[in-house]
Amino acid sequence: MPTNYGIHAMASTILLWLSLIDYVNAHIAMFTPAMWGFNVSFETFPYDNRPVAPLVDYTFNQWWFHGHLNYPPNPGDFFYLPAGKPATAELACHKGATSYCASADGGVCFGADNYPCPGSPISQFHTNGLWDLKGCALAITYESDVNKVKPEDFTIFSVNHTCVWYKDTHFQVPARMPPCPEGGCICAWFWIHSEKSGGEQNYMNGLRCKITGSVSNVGLAPAKVPRRCGADPERGVTEATPGNCTYGAKQPFYWFQKERNNMFEGTYAPPFYLDLYNFKDGAQDDIFLDSYTYIPPPSPHQTEVPTPINHPVLQPSPTNTAHQARNVRQLSTLGTFFGAVFFIVVLYAGGVF
Ligand SMILES: *[C@@H]1O[C@H](CO)[C@@H](O)[C@H](O)[C@H]1NC(C)=O
Ligand SMILES: *[C@@H]1O[C@H](CO)[C@@H](O)[C@H](O)[C@H]1NC(C)=O
Ligand SMILES: *[C@@H]1O[C@H](CO)[C@@H](O)[C@H](O)[C@H]1NC(C)=O
Repeated sequence: MPTNYGIHAMASTILLWLSLIDYVNAHIAMFTPAMWGFNVSFETFPYDNRPVAPLVDYTFNQWWFHGHLNYPPNPGDFFYLPAGKPATAELACHKGATSYCASADGGVCFGADNYPCPGSPISQFHTNGLWDLKGCALAITYESDVNKVKPEDFTIFSVNHTCVWYKDTHFQVPARMPPCPEGGCICAWFWIHSEKSGGEQNYMNGLRCKITGSVSNVGLAPAKVPRRCGADPERGVTEATPGNCTYGAKQPFYWFQKERNNMFEGTYAPPFYLDLYNFKDGAQDDIFLDSYTYIPPPSPHQTEVPTPINHPVLQPSPTNTAHQARNVRQLSTLGTFFGAVFFIVVLYAGGVF
């Protein structure tokens, strides 16, 4: 026989599940304690501004960092990005489905397998199936003060075309990512879903991040607005136009807001983190200052396409600090042309000439 207490507990569990059905009836966020808005719940704002809520037709203050700038991560919390290796992001419809469920609404953990939206159909993450996935992306800026960051400062450095099919999504970090400043870098997760499964929704969650195991000090090139250049048979574009692509460092898509958009595509032709905008699956290896010698101006009639310069990636030193002298030794023993040039540049920088 259940006691009064037992009945009460049962009733509140049922109520909690009923309310969770409402909670999970929603979208996706990247959850990490390093994010802005980690503990933002239904009640925090006068409207639903949980990290998973989509951002559409919002003022700049509403969409930028999801309007969560007053809800910063705790000091010392960073999302770590190992240069040349994958980082795992937890993408889910509800914090309760992630490994951070202890601080979710009601503290209920209901994670299952690697599914991003336990208890909900795939339409809840805006897709009709594997064929209808549109990719998501991580961007970075080498600035620690969030108040100084502007939309143009973000560069997409990693893309996963399979988003958001799996809760644990791998993002390959380019091997040549330079180290962050002392206070860390600022990153953001971005996603725009298929037009066949919901409206014009943008997703953004900001987070503090740090690159680990850097072997290069070459900075990122200024990021440019991505251009549509892939084949798009559904809209009558049968062939890709590689001369129309943006090459090198590219900004995230800012689309369908009231202010500060950089994309002006219509409802049925959203911009996606796919080859359609020259975002390759995985690490974006051509985003650095020395990735290209020359990038011809893109246009539908441009026939010249730039080739990125192939820079050899040195093995990380055991201490994670790339010592200039050691690198010079390694390179000069290679006896290559590039080694010699690098040697001269280092000597020059060192004031020998
Ligand atoms: C989020 O809530 C948990 C549990 O209350 C707490 O330990 C953590 O410090 C909070 N984090 C932030 C960033 O507010
Ligand atoms: C995208 O994430 C999935 C799930 O974690 C992973 O299997 C896949 O390898 C990732 N793709 C890339 C290009 O890293
Ligand atoms: C070239 O890119 C621009 C900017 O994204 C786009 O509006 C246009 O449709 C593209 N043209 C072709 C032929 O791909």
